[in-house]
Order: sequence, then C-alpha cells, then structure tokens
Amino acid sequence: MKKLIAGNWKMNGSLAANQSLLQEILQGLGQAACDVAVAVPAVYVSQVQGLLQGSAVHLGAQDVSAHDGGAYTGEVSAAMLREFGVRYALVGHSERRQYHGETDAVVAAKAQKALNAGITPIVCVGETLAQRDAGETEAVVKRQLAAVIHAIGACTTEIVVAYEPVWAIGTGKTATPEQAQAVHAVLRAQLAAASTQAAKVPLLYGGSMNAGNAEQLLAQPDINGGLIGGAALKAPDFLKIIAAAA
Ligand code: G3P
Repeated sequence: MKKLIAGNWKMNGSLAANQSLLQEILQGLGQAACDVAVAVPAVYVSQVQGLLQGSAVHLGAQDVSAHDGGAYTGEVSAAMLREFGVRYALVGHSERRQYHGETDAVVAAKAQKALNAGITPIVCVGETLAQRDAGETEAVVKRQLAAVIHAIGACTTEIVVAYEPVWAIGTGKTATPEQAQAVHAVLRAQLAAASTQAAKVPLLYGGSMNAGNAEQLLAQPDINGGLIGGAALKAPDFLKIIAAAA
C-alpha cells in the first residue's frame, strides 16, 4: 500500500513560521511516492488550507470533538474541520489522553464523529514505559484499539492507526524496527479479526522518527508510514522522511 507520512506540529507554529515551513516543504516535495499530511493547530487550519491549495499535501487536525455541536466551549467539531478541507484528524494522541484525561470511550467517539464527517481518523495508541516494563504493551494497545473498532464497526477499514510508544515521543529514544514491527503485527491481527479488509489499514509508527531512522522503520512489513513530531517542523528532515517512504 502507499505509505503515509503525517507531520504532527503539536502546539507549534505562527502565521509566518507555517508559511515558510510549508513553502520549503512544497518546493522540495516534487512527486512524492507516498501520501503526505500535516496536522496543524486548529487556529491555523484555515491558513494552512490556503497554503496547501493545489498541492499534494493533505490537511490534518490534531483533535476533534466527540460531540456534534452545542454547549462545548473550546471544542471544534468534525463538521467544522471538514468545511476547511481537513482530510485527517488525530484522535487519542497520548498527550490528549495524558493531559486531557481522554478515555478509550472518548477517543472512540471522536473517531466516529470524524468518520461521520468524511474525515479519516488517525487513531493513536501506545504504552507508557511502566506498562512496557510490566509486559503490558500488547494488552494496552489492543484495549485502546478495541474501543474504536467496537464503536465504528464496519468502518474499521476507513481509519489509520498510529502506534506511538509514549516513552519514544519527543525523547529521541525510538522503538527499534523489531519492537515497532512486533506491535504493528499485533494491531494488524486485531484488525484482521474485525475485518477481512484489514490489510488496507495504514499502520503508522510515531515516536522520535527522524531522517536517520525512518528508512529502517519503514522497511518493516507492517509499518506503512510515520507520524512525525519534532522532525516535521524542519523541512529538510521532513522531506528526507518522505523520501525514505518511497
Ligand atoms: O504525533 C507524533 C509524535 O507524538 C511523535 O513526536 O517528536 O517524538 O516525533 P516526536
């Protein structure tokens, strides 16, 4: 399948910085052999929609509300994001789970809302270091994904799943290709139990993926792309990762 390289800008950027970063990325992109997306802060969705007009880079959001509308101060609905051309939305990023108390049920509801609006949810799963050390990695990621599969049923083939071990995020400590592949194989098997079309679901790896380690990670049979944090903020690094996904 075609690989997907998605940048997660997290809470970074400014009008000026976004413009120069995307200008550099679009100039260097050429004919990318993979799909490319950037998930930007909600306030910049409109600006970035304009900057990406006519390019091959897809627009993504970093979160989406679990509600359709109404008295949810500060939230942004899937329908609102879709109006601005948002194609992907991260749901369940570990920073949302950790700092905003998002439960598996909330994450599943967000995935459902995204799908209803025609947005592909990138469902993030991953274990903490304590959970890995306790031998709970498989149980944790399966529990997180199961909640989403249960909520969306037949739409299981319309999602993207990102495995992001929490201990590898922003730490410079990457999962080895073997460690990542082992978890991806578990996720693939879980999807296969839910759908005969499971092979179609892109499984991304995230957690200190960079220009130096991307090729090896992306060479694994069940790693179909990357969700990139820090390295997505530097055009040359992001472009190298995109090239590694050819
Ligand atoms: O969503 C991407 C992410 O959490 C990984 O961040 O900075 O380790 O690439 P980073």
